[in-house]
Amino acid sequence: MTFFYKNLLRPLIFKLEPENAHESACQFLKLMTSLPLVCELMSRYNSVKADNPVKLFGLEFPNRVGLAAGMDKNGELAKAIEGFGFGHIEVGTVTPEAQPGNPRPRLFRDLASNGLINRMGFNNKGTENMLYALEHKYPKGRRGVPLGVNIGKAKSTPLENAVEDYLKCFKVLADQADYFTINVSSPNTQNLRQLQSREYLSVLLDSIQKENLAYAKKMGRAPHPVLLKIAPDLTYQEVDIILELLLDYNYSGIIATNTTIQRPNSIGIIEMGGYSGGDFLNKLSLDMIRYISKSTLGHLPIIGVGGINSPRTAGEMLNAGASLIQIYSSWIYEGPFFPRVLAKALYQSEKEWIN
Ligand SMILES: Cc1cc2nc3c(=O)[nH]c(=O)nc-3n(C[C@H](O)[C@H](O)[C@H](O)COP(=O)(O)O)c2cc1C
Repeated sequence: MTFFYKNLLRPLIFKLEPENAHESACQFLKLMTSLPLVCELMSRYNSVKADNPVKLFGLEFPNRVGLAAGMDKNGELAKAIEGFGFGHIEVGTVTPEAQPGNPRPRLFRDLASNGLINRMGFNNKGTENMLYALEHKYPKGRRGVPLGVNIGKAKSTPLENAVEDYLKCFKVLADQADYFTINVSSPNTQNLRQLQSREYLSVLLDSIQKENLAYAKKMGRAPHPVLLKIAPDLTYQEVDIILELLLDYNYSGIIATNTTIQRPNSIGIIEMGGYSGGDFLNKLSLDMIRYISKSTLGHLPIIGVGGINSPRTAGEMLNAGASLIQIYSSWIYEGPFFPRVLAKALYQSEKEWIN
């Protein structure tokens, strides 16, 4: 299948402008979501279920490979995406209201490194649209895998008011999210990454956790798992502050990492934005995960993401301390059934290790 994709289908897809190719893929997935039987058969055939599901922050993950945020920004495609073997799906980043994102072109392929550069800028249809899509197409309770909702702030919202945006996203989507991710690490919304500093982050984490506890009390259930997604470009001193705050405010975990503003020497294109895929980001993310795992003595669950493009790189993330992994760029470069290949390989090597 991978051979067929890489040699026949991918060359055709790569003839299209990258965002046009992305939109065509979304159209295809949208069509799939309108055919419940097809989704059902795909899920049944492709799902990878470990003998013992991964139990993490109160959720059960059938396997360790998830889809990273950014592919399904509006939560409209998750039903179809489940059918490709993912063990969880993260939708978003969603902002309170719809916003168009940056002008096109804003997505680029770097064929030299199997990487991408994007400066999408949180193009999305807003929280109400996502709520409707999830309620109607992929409702809680009728999912084969957990669904994470990745939330952000609007381009027009000043940093001082950012908390309000995150709270609004949380409140609107709390009934549908299995877990939340707070995105403070995209390089494509001006100053967003400043929210990773102690001054802003402390208020943000405190406010969201208070809202989470109030929601849980009102509904008579456990609070949502909430994770923070960080950039690979932070210094270890900055990471130390973040870890201290996450532990202080009882956060469920950390997602490391988002795209990088750094570039590999071998890069073949010059564009502004976040670089993903490829070994260069993989090394940054892996180093970050090793550091986090060591600093927290493994007490803070980690989702590892960044340049995972083979069973080997996936395994290294787990060995470094991640409990789950996510992919995005390699879904494009390696093909639609790559999540299944990865999940099976990880499952197989875990079984061999146990025996
Ligand atoms: C086109 C594109 C859009 C993305 N949009 C988002 C986003 O909206 N929110 C987010 O947290 N991460 C976003 N990301 C980052 C990915 O979730 C992931 O962290 C990053 O691409 C590294 O993983 P990868 O090397 O497997 O692609 C985006 C990545 C790409 C390539």
